[in-house]
Amino acid sequence: MFPSASEPRDCSRSRSAKRGAGIANTRAHLNVERCALNSLPWTLSELNVFFIMRRAIYPGSFDPVTNGHLDVIERARKLFDEVIVAVAHNDEKQALFSLQERLDLLQETAAKIDNVRITQFDGLLVEFAAAQKATAVIRGLRAVSDFEFEFQMALMNRKLEASVETIFLMPKEEFTYLSSRLVKEIARLGGDVSSFVPPAVAKALGKKFAASKKK
Ligand code: PNS
Repeated sequence: MFPSASEPRDCSRSRSAKRGAGIANTRAHLNVERCALNSLPWTLSELNVFFIMRRAIYPGSFDPVTNGHLDVIERARKLFDEVIVAVAHNDEKQALFSLQERLDLLQETAAKIDNVRITQFDGLLVEFAAAQKATAVIRGLRAVSDFEFEFQMALMNRKLEASVETIFLMPKEEFTYLSSRLVKEIARLGGDVSSFVPPAVAKALGKKFAASKKK
């Protein structure tokens, strides 16, 4: 798991003390730090490389999470050490599931994937991404029809915060026609959604619409 020790370590301060004062002091200081880590079998540079985390945010409404979303999360995980799935507080959209329900469904389904964290965010996406020290925003791209809005959002986000890149990932072909909106409509009309969403979501949709029919 860890990198193997390769560089020989020199903890003596005498060699650097023989050189010019400024450089010698800096080197001596670095050497002391190295010596503090001497009990570990890795050099400072090896440790540095090891601990750099590549983190991405996968934002969305997730109302509810579908198999298409899960496929994108799996793909993103292959590229990043950690993926933060971030549910937006989106006041403009009338969601079927409450924010807490959407978070719970993601927790039950997506959080099973290694190094995937589920959270919520408010305000600007790029500000949230920067606060989380994420270098990328992941968006799923299903068809050309998605492109115009996604392109506009990616460029606007870049204008707002140049350090955050948007990366588009294409889900498996069989999920390209899938959307949370269509899944909700099918479930509302009594159709079978079991091949579009994980079992926990199919159950939650069933409950939602059974409850609304009773009203
Ligand atoms: O799943 P959705 O509804 O397509 O997700 C859209 C979302 C939540 C990613 C987008 O609305 C968003 O980023 N909202 C946060 C507010 C923000 O940063 N708006 C400026 C976008 S350029």
